[in-house]
Amino acid sequence: MTSQLPEQIPFHRPAIGEGEIDAAVKVLRSGWLTTGRKAHELEAAFAERLGVRHALAVNSATAALHLALEGFGIGSGDEVAVPTYTFTACGEVCAYLGARPVLTDVGDDYLLGPPQLEPILTSATRGVLPVHFAGLEVETAPLRELAPDARFVEDAAHTVPSIAERAGAGRLGDAAAFSFYATKTMTTGGEGGMLTTDDDDLAARAKLMRLHGISADAWNRYGAGGSWAYEVAEAGFKYNLTDLAAAIGLVQFSRIDDLAGQRHAIAARYDERFRDSALVQLPPRRDPADHGWHLYVIRLELESLDVDRAAVIDRLAKAGIGTSVHFIPLHLHSYYQRRYGYKPGDFPVAERLFERSISLPRSIGWRARSSRSSTPRATRCRSSDAGLAGGDQAQPRRGAGPRRGDRPAARGSDRRGRGCTRLHRPGHLRRTPRRPRRPGIHDVEVPLHGPGRRGGRPRRHRGL
Ligand SMILES: Cc1ncc(COP(=O)(O)O)c(C=O)c1O
Repeated sequence: MTSQLPEQIPFHRPAIGEGEIDAAVKVLRSGWLTTGRKAHELEAAFAERLGVRHALAVNSATAALHLALEGFGIGSGDEVAVPTYTFTACGEVCAYLGARPVLTDVGDDYLLGPPQLEPILTSATRGVLPVHFAGLEVETAPLRELAPDARFVEDAAHTVPSIAERAGAGRLGDAAAFSFYATKTMTTGGEGGMLTTDDDDLAARAKLMRLHGISADAWNRYGAGGSWAYEVAEAGFKYNLTDLAAAIGLVQFSRIDDLAGQRHAIAARYDERFRDSALVQLPPRRDPADHGWHLYVIRLELESLDVDRAAVIDRLAKAGIGTSVHFIPLHLHSYYQRRYGYKPGDFPVAERLFERSISLPRSIGWRARSSRSSTPRATRCRSSDAGLAGGDQAQPRRGAGPRRGDRPAARGSDRRGRGCTRLHRPGHLRRTPRRPRRPGIHDVEVPLHGPGRRGGRPRRHRGL
């Protein structure tokens, strides 16, 4: 049965191993599910690695962003600088507080830089949200010189915490928000986040506000030696992270360097394949070693193609290759247009990036097809399947997208050489080992399939 399923490369598949599963089961058997020892352990591990005074586990990066802005006292009438090239979480948390997200363009590296920040600064600017897009860190020092009185809250949703000695993401602002959403660099089982800061006042406020504004968390109330007494000091939020999630997160956290290494290896392979392509621009980077490679975002040379980005995505999907697009700039969404008056054309660099960017699969969680399967297809991939690779495929041709006469993508029983992509060099074709030395893209070329799916588009997460 399994062997008849079409093989697909999902845009993302979380790297959940037996360790995470065991940890979750242990918590389920423990009698304590919500915020408790595991959440505190995760906080301690995070704070230690990052070298910050406080790490507060929450249920999303959105919650962390909200708590940070709230804790810094940002509210009605205040302005917060937000790059338009981001997820809506950055804008919506400002709106929660009655503050105005003041959008701005980004540089060619997708990041907020001084030329974009300077023109939107006013006397009302109280906050700046630099977004470490795709895992590439924003250089915040020059931004901070421009806005010395503003609070900088890093959107670190695309990064893992850097190590203390490096003082990278998580140490570049007054606070940082990490995401453990399903597709992120680590996950706590689907949803989760962390707020980090060296600011004692912010930490105290966020601790209070993340759990209803009550003076003691459930752990203190119901744990050994806890008290039934609590006081509601504020109208807070319900943002705490459960122990079930934290237990999964602790195992993921212990693997983050390994997972990062695998993402780097994937990025290196993509680099190698696309380096000579005239149709694709490699993602921006400074020092490649410092890139988190949460996303590998290529840019199409649309001028050399007579298809648009949607057609390329469609063709990849038909070949079983899941992709995503990061991001639809905020000013192109109806909410930001209706509420704040933004319109298409406002931020030309972001729009130019948007219309040509594609995030490629970088699932380190997928394994070789089921051991029940008998016919691995890794050996049958053709680099022409995606039509974008370098080498022989590098010659730009008009109509690199689907052409009349192109055979349809893998479906049903006709599966030869399609529905797969090649992430290896031609001389290195080999069968997928049944038991890869370590699970990951290093050893296998065969895409995952979703259970029960037969053809059609790869199953996708929200795609963020
Ligand atoms: C740049 C960025 N910021 C914030 C978020 C929000 O993260 P979460 O889903 O953990 O709230 C995301 C999630 O997709 C993101 O990509």
